[in-house]
Amino acid sequence: MSSPEIRPAAEADLPTITEIYEHAVRYGTATFELIPPDLAEMTRRFHALVDGGFPYLVAVVDGNVIGYAYAGPYRPRPAYRFTVENSIYLKPAIHRRGIGLQLLQRLLRECEARGYRQMIAVIGDSANAGSIGVHTKCGFQMIGTHPNVGLKFGRWLDTVMMQLSLGKGATTVPTADQ
Ligand SMILES: CC(C)(COP(=O)(O)OP(=O)(O)OC[C@H]1O[C@@H](n2cnc3c(N)ncnc32)[C@H](O)[C@@H]1OP(=O)(O)O)[C@@H](O)C(=O)NCCC(=O)NCCS
Repeated sequence: MSSPEIRPAAEADLPTITEIYEHAVRYGTATFELIPPDLAEMTRRFHALVDGGFPYLVAVVDGNVIGYAYAGPYRPRPAYRFTVENSIYLKPAIHRRGIGLQLLQRLLRECEARGYRQMIAVIGDSANAGSIGVHTKCGFQMIGTHPNVGLKFGRWLDTVMMQLSLGKGATTVPTADQ
C-alpha cells in the first residue's frame, strides 16, 4: 500500500466516512453510539465542526478514503474553549500500519496552529489497545479510567481519559483572554 495523503476532508468524502463510522458503531466499542448516524447526520456534524473552525482530516490512498480524524469541542461551556476532544477511525483492514499515528500527528499540528492548548482523548473501552497505544505514542498522558460508564453489546464498558498539552499548554494565558 502506498503511503497515505493526509488532507482536509471535503463533503464528497462523507459517504465513505459514514461507512467507516457505521462499522465502528455496529461492531466496535470505541464509540458509545448504538445506532449508526446516516449520511445526512454525518454531514450536519461535519459542517458544525468545520464551520466552527475545527480540523477534520482524511487519509487517502490511491484516491480512496481509508480513515478520518477530527477535533471538536471537549465540552460546550465557554471556559473549555481552548480544549478539544479528538476522534480517529480507520477502515478495519488497515489497522496497525501507522495511519492512525499519521492522522493524529497532523491533527495535533492543526489544533496547535489554531491556538488550542489541550487535547483530550475519551477512549471507549479500556481494552482498546490500538487507541491507547496510538495516543501513548503521540505523548498523551494517562489521566484515568471511568469504570463501567457504558453499556453496549450487553457488556459494561469503561472510558479511558488521556490528555496532551498543545503548543504553550498552560505555561501562558492567551493574551486576548486574560
Ligand atoms: C485506534 C486506531 C485509530 C489506531 O490507528 P492504527 O493505524 O491502527 O495505529 P498505528 O499503526 O498508527 O499505531 C501507532 C502506534 O500505536 C500503538 N498501537 C497501535 N495499535 C496497537 C495495538 N493494537 N496494541 C498495542 N499498541 C498499538 C503502537 O505503539 C503503534 O506503533 P507501532 O506499530 O510502531 O508499534 C485504529 O486502530 C482504529 O481506527 N481503531 C478503531 C476505532 C478506534 O478505536 N478509534 C479511536 C477512538 S478514541
